[in-house]
Amino acid sequence: MCGIIGYTTRKNNSVEVALSGLKNLEYRGYDSSGIAFFDGEKMDIIKSKGKISNLDDKLSNFNTNSCCAIAHTRWATHGEPNETNAHPHQVGKVTLVHNGIIENYSVLKDELLKNGYTFKSETDTEVAAAYLDYCYSKTQDKLQALVDACKAFRGSYAFDVVYEDEPTTIYATRKDSPLVIGYSHDGNFAASDISAILNYTNKYSLIEEGEFVKVTKDIVTFYNKDLHEIEKKSETATWDAAQYQKNGYEHFMLKEIYEQPKAISDIFNRYYTNCSYKDLDFSKFDKIHIVACGSAMHASLVGKYLLQTYGKIPVMVEIASEYRYSEELITPSTLLIVVSQSGETADTLAALRLAKEKGAYVVGIVNAVGSTIAREVDKCIYTYAGPEIAVATTKGYTSQVAVFSTLALMAMEQKGLLDKNIEKLIKNDMLNIEEKINSVISNREKYLEIANQIYKHNDLFFIGRGIDSTVCMEGSLKLKEISYMHSESYSAGELKHGTISLIDKGTPVISIATDEKLFEKTVSNIKETKARGSFSIFVTTENHIDNCDEFADEVIILPKATDFTEPILTVIALQLVAYETAKLRGCDIDKPRNLAKSVTVE
Ligand code: M6R
Repeated sequence: MCGIIGYTTRKNNSVEVALSGLKNLEYRGYDSSGIAFFDGEKMDIIKSKGKISNLDDKLSNFNTNSCCAIAHTRWATHGEPNETNAHPHQVGKVTLVHNGIIENYSVLKDELLKNGYTFKSETDTEVAAAYLDYCYSKTQDKLQALVDACKAFRGSYAFDVVYEDEPTTIYATRKDSPLVIGYSHDGNFAASDISAILNYTNKYSLIEEGEFVKVTKDIVTFYNKDLHEIEKKSETATWDAAQYQKNGYEHFMLKEIYEQPKAISDIFNRYYTNCSYKDLDFSKFDKIHIVACGSAMHASLVGKYLLQTYGKIPVMVEIASEYRYSEELITPSTLLIVVSQSGETADTLAALRLAKEKGAYVVGIVNAVGSTIAREVDKCIYTYAGPEIAVATTKGYTSQVAVFSTLALMAMEQKGLLDKNIEKLIKNDMLNIEEKINSVISNREKYLEIANQIYKHNDLFFIGRGIDSTVCMEGSLKLKEISYMHSESYSAGELKHGTISLIDKGTPVISIATDEKLFEKTVSNIKETKARGSFSIFVTTENHIDNCDEFADEVIILPKATDFTEPILTVIALQLVAYETAKLRGCDIDKPRNLAKSVTVE
């Protein structure tokens, strides 16, 4: 989704710095970009469709010496990606960049049209700029105008604003979209996230909803909603700029796949040494809801399986954007677990706020430290997997699964369901995960061989039962996202109720059967597809490979593990198949078309 950065400085390099910040925000997903900078007399605006490198090229034709700039990457919502719709937008005395959506923009636009404003773009943001200019024309007070405009806006926003008559000061505010203020030796920032400023500083402050900020090159002043000055602590980011580099890997996705052995073993080691959430008492709640989007929802389904099967706790998993339609099920004795890598996903945030309104206790499983979801939940369990840049999540997902494994273990312990032998088995499994993941990753040749067999196909199916069927969903999403191949995930037993009609000669079917109890049934379902001509790729554990030639054209062999870690091993193999396939198809692996890393609109 959109990314913003504003920088005001004692030097003349604000354009260069803002542009480097925009490049670090690229991972959020975008389709155009733009920058406004003070040229000594006025704000110049340069915009470009497509990659930031296009904007960079355009800028090389201008004198970009400037002490104040605001810049933006746009992920189109209102109006197609083109230069007119790209930000910054300038109306009257106001130039601004915006991340979010002004939902009532058409009502405001009508009011502005009646007051003589005209519009060039199709965007809600140009309306926001005009409305702010309108408010400023009435109050002649910059902060008050921003307060008044925000009162009229419905929706979500993080704004960086520069007024024509104070062109080296950035005014900023936010609601439901992230914004951080950064402090460097030469000047100050207002940006969507810390990654944008880490090349220059690791000192930052977080802006709460409805707060306002005045940022000059020398001083940053914070205000509450009534415009009373407030004090803010400065924090120090623990992530450093190097973590935002590929460090020799061809893609961020590959780097993040290779970071999984450490990320996952860290979670299990912390659980056994210094666990911050062991005090979570499941017996206090009569039900558990888990709510998330996309891959985080898939991780939640693994969580549900583990909590129900081993912890004997009934769990409902809901897609965040649908959760409000289950409103009547949320009570003060509900434990809601929200799961989010970015901690900024608008649908998940809305679900958490709804549940809090209804009195539920909310726990977050979050990766991004200091993100909105992390701050708003009653208890945050951080995955601490480090920054994830590739749009397609890998370590984000597996670290969420790892946390769920520990929660299921806790539930078993609390209910007295953990006998000494099982405990020893699971502990051994968790504490040896690094080696097992490394052995899965080292099978790269096999994944490439499979990718070569499937990359020219248009349709592909994933099938599995039980815990394997939840991993199928994630494997299928990974392939779709980065290779643009159509793929569907089906519970193996459900295929014959309709979808099997799509299986034809050569259709690739990836089947997963790691669960001992369900093995035979899954194999029967694989044979049903094989009888219809499928190209069968079989994913199983080392103890299950006898006689699989009968129904498998390719086999991926995984180390045997318990259900508490097997999904992690399985999905990593599928991540690598998706990666190799997308590479053969020549796709933009880290930034797939139409997708955004951080989905900050509902
Ligand atoms: O940041 P979140 O975990 O809340 O994001 C949720 C989904 O948007 C995300 O998992 C999405 O499905 C990814 N593109 C999957 O790779």
